[in-house]
Amino acid sequence: MEPTLEGKVALVTGASSGIGEAAALELARRGASVAVAARSVEKLEALAGRASASGGRVLVVEADVADRDSVGAMVGRVLAEFGGLDVLVNNAGLGLSGRVSELRAEDLRYVFEVNTVGPLNCLQAALPHMGRGGRIVNVSSVVGKRAIPKVGGYCSTKFALNALSDALRVEVAERGVSVTSVYPGTTRTAFRDNSRRTRDEKRGWRPKGVTPERVAKKIADAAEKGPRDVYVTLSDRLFVAGVTLFPGLTDLLLRSWAKD
Ligand SMILES: NC(=O)c1ccc[n+]([C@@H]2O[C@H](COP(=O)([O-])OP(=O)(O)OC[C@H]3O[C@@H](n4cnc5c(N)ncnc54)[C@H](OP(=O)(O)O)[C@@H]3O)[C@@H](O)[C@H]2O)c1
Repeated sequence: MEPTLEGKVALVTGASSGIGEAAALELARRGASVAVAARSVEKLEALAGRASASGGRVLVVEADVADRDSVGAMVGRVLAEFGGLDVLVNNAGLGLSGRVSELRAEDLRYVFEVNTVGPLNCLQAALPHMGRGGRIVNVSSVVGKRAIPKVGGYCSTKFALNALSDALRVEVAERGVSVTSVYPGTTRTAFRDNSRRTRDEKRGWRPKGVTPERVAKKIADAAEKGPRDVYVTLSDRLFVAGVTLFPGLTDLLLRSWAKD
């Protein structure tokens, strides 16, 4: 692997599991110094051990992205340890399942705090320290482009994140900082187990999904080049194109998903 990110400092939130863990390893493999943040410090320590064994420079930071003080302290530690910050990967997040008519407002508020306000907290803490070539990579979802039944609350947090990304991209363009939205489809992680749910929903058909390593490569590519939007697979891209062109037909096709 070419050390294409040699000399860069990256911060990955939600790095104790799944996509964030794989992204941290991929960024370290490409030569970046990587700060890994989450609430589960033991898992982060294990990850740091593996990354360091292959020569990576990794800093473990306990942080809750929904807590602004915790986020401020996290960025402070990265600056103190690595002397700067070039790449922020806003990946921490969780799911929320349940019909919109049954969602508990407190669950939706909590998931917004983590999935939407969390990235906002992190980018606001990071931006003042980012120079030209700085990269903000926000992990959204294909269901942040088209909401689907039984996960409408989760989808709404990713729609809101996309809105923040789109506005911010233009606001910071003159400063030479890029803002990328990554839209993974189903990915084989602990995401479903970690989701909040209103009640035990019958699990309908889902795509088998891709590995977190495949998503991680796209995130690392975004850290290198700072594109606008990133899809992981061609079928994700086609799904989004199709639902945008044919919204009414998509409603009809999704009706079977809404059944119990
Ligand atoms: N898996 C999918 O199918 C899929 C598809 C599209 C998009 N995504 C998105 O990809 C991202 C990563 O999900 P994943 O699939 O890798 O799920 P995961 O395996 O459950 O990982 C979620 C990560 O987020 C962290 N996290 C949760 N709440 C946090 C908080 N308050 N503060 C800091 N960290 C927090 C968790 O760490 P701690 O619990 O240790 O804090 C964990 O490291 C999420 O934003 C998710 O919405 C996932």
